[in-house]
Amino acid sequence: MPSTLLRLAILISGNGSNLQAIIDAIAEGRLQAQIVVVVSNKEHVYGLERAQRAGIATVVISQHQFKDHLEYEHALQTCLDSYQPDLIILAGFMRILSKAFVDHYPLRILNIHPSLLPKYPGLKTHQRALAAKDTVHGVSIHIVTAELDSGPIIAQMTTAIVSEDNEHTLENKIHTLEHQLYPKVIQWYAQGRLQLTTTGIFLDGKKLPKIGIQVLEVRKE
Ligand code: GRF
Repeated sequence: MPSTLLRLAILISGNGSNLQAIIDAIAEGRLQAQIVVVVSNKEHVYGLERAQRAGIATVVISQHQFKDHLEYEHALQTCLDSYQPDLIILAGFMRILSKAFVDHYPLRILNIHPSLLPKYPGLKTHQRALAAKDTVHGVSIHIVTAELDSGPIIAQMTTAIVSEDNEHTLENKIHTLEHQLYPKVIQWYAQGRLQLTTTGIFLDGKKLPKIGIQVLEVRKE
């Protein structure tokens, strides 16, 4: 692979279906990037198997190996830096990252969250959307900041909640959206179409009107 390919480090904690979507998009030529490492904070999760099957380097760095969060993050940072990633992709990574860690990779850490942020940061988003009798639910991709699920939003996709929906059906719908949107947004970045700057998020040279609320359609290309 040419070394100019966008270098992705992907952080997981579990099943890794979003990781798989990115692996598949690369294999199918829909995403011009390379995954240089997959790091999990949990051993024996299925996402690690997916990475290994695709021939990607994997590393497990779990919190309990370290005396505190600071030491844990130091090890994570040392590991990531050794792979020189252009972007760090959180894909079901269930640890909160400190400001010092995030500041080490300014505007270079992305996360996918299963709600239409700023609605429902944190856990149990499908349950909360159902309990609130929302008629629309969705996914958000945002820049990671030290505040949980609160960084500038790059893109969102929506799905209707119908009366037959339960947590399980909603989770499936959301996963389907996630698997389309994450590779797409990373490809925009790889193509230089998406620019993340301190003055705003730009797509095709156009500044998104207001960081934090912009909803982008996924265009057919
Ligand atoms: C996804 O729903 C993602 O939005 C959330 O965690 C879940 C991870 O799923 N952050 P998977 O491990 O990629 O299957």
